[in-house]
Amino acid sequence: MSLFDLTGEVAVVIGATGVLGGAIAEGLAEAGAKVAVLGRNQERGLARVNSIRAKGGVAEFFAADALRRDSLQQAREALEKALGPSTILVNATGGNDPKVTVTADLPFERIELTDWRANFDLNLVAGVLLPCQEFGPAMVARGKGSIINVASVSAHLPLSRVVTYSAAKAAVLNLTLFLSREWATQGVRVNSITPGFFPAEQNRKLLFTEDGSPTARTKAILGHTPMGRFGEPKELVGAVVFLAGKAASFVTGTDIRVDGGFLSQTL
Ligand SMILES: NC(=O)c1ccc[n+]([C@@H]2O[C@H](COP(=O)([O-])OP(=O)(O)OC[C@H]3O[C@@H](n4cnc5c(N)ncnc54)[C@H](OP(=O)(O)O)[C@@H]3O)[C@@H](O)[C@H]2O)c1
Repeated sequence: MSLFDLTGEVAVVIGATGVLGGAIAEGLAEAGAKVAVLGRNQERGLARVNSIRAKGGVAEFFAADALRRDSLQQAREALEKALGPSTILVNATGGNDPKVTVTADLPFERIELTDWRANFDLNLVAGVLLPCQEFGPAMVARGKGSIINVASVSAHLPLSRVVTYSAAKAAVLNLTLFLSREWATQGVRVNSITPGFFPAEQNRKLLFTEDGSPTARTKAILGHTPMGRFGEPKELVGAVVFLAGKAASFVTGTDIRVDGGFLSQTL
């Protein structure tokens, strides 16, 4: 059997209603895992399930608000009844909120604390903390699990303007390391991926103007990306499938950059 075969695994992808999480869910299903598509948006969740099933995969949608532990618990119980114990968790919930993007009209010092907290909660609390609190101990109890958190290039060196997002994603890397150490002897590995730039819903306004042409920021990003292009969501699948299964049996606390070289570029 291939090192990358995930037959028999149950993969939970929170934020699989979104662009990157959705592509990751498809990739995990193609590798053989049964996939639980989690998120709040039922319409997008069901569309993703249908797409996976159309390709012969197994998937179910479970509504979950990752900002609420009770909602995650309900979803976990329902999905484990339907698909079996979860063995893979991908945390793909997050994004930058324009309300905390620094602009000429919104300098750093005028960011509202409530907005800061909401964006921090989205990326760190819903993005990692609560899902790991809900799914991690059940994996530990069974002695088997692989958790993959989604960081960002901004976690490594803060990009301009997206200050809250950068700080929260830096904390995602740090919490990943903490949990990897905590559960290392208990059969649960915890790693992260660092996507470069992938056009999605949450960053559309930063990357494109209303008529769809690239913003100055897009030109700067692509100029700074050695491969000179955006990533395609399916290009994240290889790193996730690797981290999810037995190919990475001795890999924990690591971060895989899938960024077209963005973080290796200086001049
Ligand atoms: N796109 C990029 O270039 C890029 C680069 C680096 C990192 N990332 C990270 O990759 C991850 C996925 O982002 P994306 O670009 O694919 O954005 P996206 O399409 O907006 O997906 C984000 C998903 O998060 C889910 N979500 C938000 N709040 C939630 C909550 N309270 N409970 C459950 N789900 C919630 C949303 O699903 P519902 O609306 O269904 O709840 C949404 O589908 C994020 O962590 C993002 O920061 C993206």
